[in-house]
Amino acid sequence: MHGIEKREGWSSRSAFILAAIGAAVGLGNIWRFPTLAGESGGGAFVIFYIGCVFLLGLPLLLAEIFIGRAGQTDAVGSIRNVAAHSRASSKWGWVGGLGAVAAFLVLSFYSVVAGWVLYYVGVFAGDFGSALMAGEPFRGALAGENEAAIQQRLGDMFANPGLMLGMHAVFMGLTLFIVGRGVHGGIEKAATWLMPLFFVLLVGIVIYGAVVGDMTDTLAFLFTPDWSKLTPEVMNAALGQALFSLSLGIAGIITYGSYITEGTKLGSTAALIAVADTGVALLAGLMIFPIVLSVGLDPAAGPTLVFQTLPFAFQSMPAGSLIGMLFFILIFVAAITSSISILEVPTAWGVGERGWSRPKSTLIFGGAAFLVGIACLLGYNVWKDVHPLGFWDIFADLDILDTVDGFTGKIMLPLGAFFVAVFVGWKADRKMVAETTGLSNGMLVLWRFLLAWLCPIAVAIILLTGLFPAILG
Ligand code: TRP
Repeated sequence: MHGIEKREGWSSRSAFILAAIGAAVGLGNIWRFPTLAGESGGGAFVIFYIGCVFLLGLPLLLAEIFIGRAGQTDAVGSIRNVAAHSRASSKWGWVGGLGAVAAFLVLSFYSVVAGWVLYYVGVFAGDFGSALMAGEPFRGALAGENEAAIQQRLGDMFANPGLMLGMHAVFMGLTLFIVGRGVHGGIEKAATWLMPLFFVLLVGIVIYGAVVGDMTDTLAFLFTPDWSKLTPEVMNAALGQALFSLSLGIAGIITYGSYITEGTKLGSTAALIAVADTGVALLAGLMIFPIVLSVGLDPAAGPTLVFQTLPFAFQSMPAGSLIGMLFFILIFVAAITSSISILEVPTAWGVGERGWSRPKSTLIFGGAAFLVGIACLLGYNVWKDVHPLGFWDIFADLDILDTVDGFTGKIMLPLGAFFVAVFVGWKADRKMVAETTGLSNGMLVLWRFLLAWLCPIAVAIILLTGLFPAILG
């Protein structure tokens, strides 16, 4: 074990909870969840998703927290420590290594998408500024533009590599800065300032949507299940989304869990994180769909729901330019408290296993993810369509961002989750598990059943259907 000097940690249980909720709540909740729910027809997806979170996600979340708490170092070392204590092979440490690689890949495209969000903060801030100047602070957004022009803004941004690169750089720079300052002075401080802001904005915009938008239709859309829509693909998407949204499978929660202070009750803490994350996803639906439905737009717009459909909807809403600005600030806040948790995984590995200083480790992994992110964003412009750079033609039809997203989400996350379930469910020393988690006997039996049987089987199904889409027919 390398932890000779004293490791930093959270200053309290609530600091851990805020940081972990910050990690869980991100683009996954506000961009990916409503997109999937909309595309998949609403109610049946939502109810199935909630089942996935509590039957699979919550047991896995507790398993990752346990490994971190018991292992007391970075993901690789923590797994190895638990394995040593349980007389299992030290090769299990590879699961943590896989996580660190996946984390750095997830970070690369996460930062690119967060860069789009940042650009839209700018668009709406500019729009709100001009509304103020015109003496009409409560006017709708993007006055004078028609639907096509508003949609074209996204196309224009995609066509502009310099703009996307700049936004990606700003977002990654902020992430590096926070993580570089350490667990206590960086990550914890960011979470304790930003998460309250996030919740105020979220509740505020939900109330706004309920007042000016169409809440009745939204409730029907989100909660009335049409079970015929629950196809294998939809179930597969719901399972994958549950892992992504709870930040499982790439050792992020193992890493955060290793900074937990003694005496924290792990079971109730995990439950609180899962409830908060799911609550935010549902509230994001209650925030977005009333606005979209009230102006008769399509809730099944797909990934452009947030970037095209919603900006157009804000046009006919009272104070649309102000609300639009606040909405994108909200997504930005959610994204940054997640991206720091992703960068922390490889960073902790560099510090714990390689003995690098924190700033050095942050720079190496953040820098590498930045470079992969550049490849992702060039896939939208320079490497797309016809262009003079003959060599790059091989990339022309390759949607790199989608590929990295798909590869990590459909393969690496489920693979990591599978091994965590098997490791804690079958290999970890039972006495250590019982003592560290502090669960009552009944809960322990239930948890171990879900972890040892249900999780590996269900996750293996996601993995196989992700690898071989043909299975889904
Ligand atoms: N859960 C975050 C979201 O919903 C993203 C995230 C943070 C993540 N850490 C992760 C996803 C680890 C997968 C694995 O946006």
